[in-house]
Amino acid sequence: GAPAKVDVSKIEPGAMLTAEWRGKPVYIVRRTPETLDTLGTLAGRLKDPENSNKEQQPAYADNGFRSRKPELLVLLGVCTHLGCAPKYFAEVKPEPFDSDWKGGWYCPCHGSRFDLAGRVFNGSPAATNLVVPPYSYESDNVLVIG
Ligand code: FES
Repeated sequence: GAPAKVDVSKIEPGAMLTAEWRGKPVYIVRRTPETLDTLGTLAGRLKDPENSNKEQQPAYADNGFRSRKPELLVLLGVCTHLGCAPKYFAEVKPEPFDSDWKGGWYCPCHGSRFDLAGRVFNGSPAATNLVVPPYSYESDNVLVIG
């Protein structure tokens, strides 16, 4: 399939834009500095904090942010349990989840939770982190997926 080009300039801090690539949703979030600080504190709550499953992200996203640019996260919007579309929660968390979840994605099908790097939380039926698709930047504000 053809690559998908997305203008990311209008994504406000904390907001998510949904694009499409090869018939699948792609979630693009502009993370805040506070969120980036939080990511390093969650390791004890995550199934795979070190990105040990190398198929879940390209090498350039195999880092603590799971992205090329720290502030811009790009993920396939497909739950790694059975393929539902996880819902985005920038800050507000659905109850009764514990306060250690600082937002991210919640899958309505069976309750998997992912953090704001797409990493799967302990206690989720999903076993692996959300997938980072291949992508690059054509310019500062033009993302090319695929
Ligand atoms: Fe997402 Fe089952 S499909 S938790």
